[in-house]
Amino acid sequence: MEPFPYRDFELCCEQVSLRALAADVGTPAYVYSKAALLESLGAYDRAFAEVPHVVCYSVKANSNLGVLATLARAGAGADIVSGGELYRALRAGVPARKIVFSGVGKTRAEMRAALEAGILMVNVESRSELRALDQVARELGTRAPVALRVNPDVDPQTHPYVATGLRTSKFGIPYAEALEVYEEAAGLKGVAVVGADMHIGSQLTQTAPFGDAVARVAALVKALRERSIEIRLVDIGGGLGIRYREETPPTHAQYARVLLPALAELGVTVLLEPGRSIAGNAGVLLTRVLDRKDTGARTFVVVDAAMNDLIRPSLYDSWHEIRPVDEARLGGPMEKVDVVGPVCESGDFLAKDRELAEAEEGDLLAVMSAGAYGFVMSSNYNTRPRAVEVLVDGDRYTIVRRRETYEDLVAGETMS
Ligand code: LLP
Repeated sequence: MEPFPYRDFELCCEQVSLRALAADVGTPAYVYSKAALLESLGAYDRAFAEVPHVVCYSVKANSNLGVLATLARAGAGADIVSGGELYRALRAGVPARKIVFSGVGKTRAEMRAALEAGILMVNVESRSELRALDQVARELGTRAPVALRVNPDVDPQTHPYVATGLRTSKFGIPYAEALEVYEEAAGLKGVAVVGADMHIGSQLTQTAPFGDAVARVAALVKALRERSIEIRLVDIGGGLGIRYREETPPTHAQYARVLLPALAELGVTVLLEPGRSIAGNAGVLLTRVLDRKDTGARTFVVVDAAMNDLIRPSLYDSWHEIRPVDEARLGGPMEKVDVVGPVCESGDFLAKDRELAEAEEGDLLAVMSAGAYGFVMSSNYNTRPRAVEVLVDGDRYTIVRRRETYEDLVAGETMS
C-alpha cells in the first residue's frame, strides 16, 4: 500500500489531495494516513501471531490523541516514558493493562500515577529506581509489577544519539549486574517481578543486533528461573528501522523470524515497543514555498516549515525525501538547492544540496517519512505556532490538532 500516491497529477494522502487539504487547513501541516498506521500495526500482529504478544506502541514517536486512539481501537497497547504520556495514553483509550512504563529518571509522582492507573509493567532502569518504586508501591499498599531493563551491550549500528543498548549509554542495568538486582527485587515487598526488558536503539536496519540482544535476555530469563524467579513477560523494545532513502530495513516478518525461536521457547508473553516503524512512513509534513533566493553560491528554497517543525535534519543530519505536490513538476527541470525555513539560524534546513524538481513561490512540497519524531519534537522557537495535524481516512480527514494561535503561545505567561 502506498499511503501517499499521485492521483490526477497531485500528491495525495490516501484519497485526499494535499493541494485541497492545504487550501483548507493551511501550511505547515502534518498529515497522517490512518490506513498506513493500521497496516504496520497489523503486520506486527501477524508476524508475532504464534506467541502471545502485545504491541505497546511507543507513544513518544507520535503522541497525537487521534493517532493513539486509532491504534488503541485496533488493539495496541502503549509504551510510555512520562506522566504526560500516561495521561495521553489513558485519554486515548489505551487500557492500563496494556501500558508499559520505560525510561530513565521516573519521578515518584509519575510512579504513583502509573501504579494507581494499574499499568501492566514498570521497566526499571537502575537499582536506586527499583528501591524508590518499592517504597512508592508500599505507600500505596500495592505491589509494582516490574521488569528490569537490562543493557545487553550490543552495537545496534545506528546513529549515536539513538543507540541505547551500549555499555556506555545511560540506559538500563548492566548485563553483568542484572541477576543480582533481580535477586534484590524478588525480596522487596512493594515489587512483583514479572518481566525482563531491553531496548537497544532506534532506526536499526539489520536483524542481527536484535537477535544477539534477545539471545542475551533469554539466557538471563533462564538463569532467573533456575533461581525460582519467574518471568512471564519479555519486552523486546522497539527500534525497527524504516526506509527514508535507500535503507532496506527488515520487514516485520523478517524481524519476527529472527526473534521468535528464542522467545517461543521461553513460553512468555512478548511485548513490543515499536514507534517509528508504525508512524514514520504514515506521515508527511506539508509545506509551501515562500521564496527563492539565489546568493550566487547557493540556491535556497525558503518554505514555511522550519527546524522548529521538524528538527531531525538539523539535529541528526537526517535525510527526508521531498516530493512536489504538483506531479507535473517532476517532468520539468531539476536543480540543486537547500530547502530552508524562516528560523534565524543557519542550522535551519530541511534538506541540503538536494537535487529537486524546480519549485516556485507558492508551490507545495511534502517532506516524507515525517510521521514519527516530527510533530512531537517540534517547538515554538521564534514564537512560531506549532503546525496543524490532520488524520486522513480514505477520502475524509479530521483535524486531530488545530494549529496553535498566538494566544496559545503566551497563555501561561505574565508580565510581572
Ligand atoms: N522503547 C524505548 C525504551 C525507546 O527509548 C524507544 C525510542 C522506543 C521504544 C521506540 O523506538 P522506535 O521503534 O521508534 O525506534 N528522536 C529520534 C528517535 C529517538 C528514539 C528514542 N527511543 C529520531 O528522530 O530519530
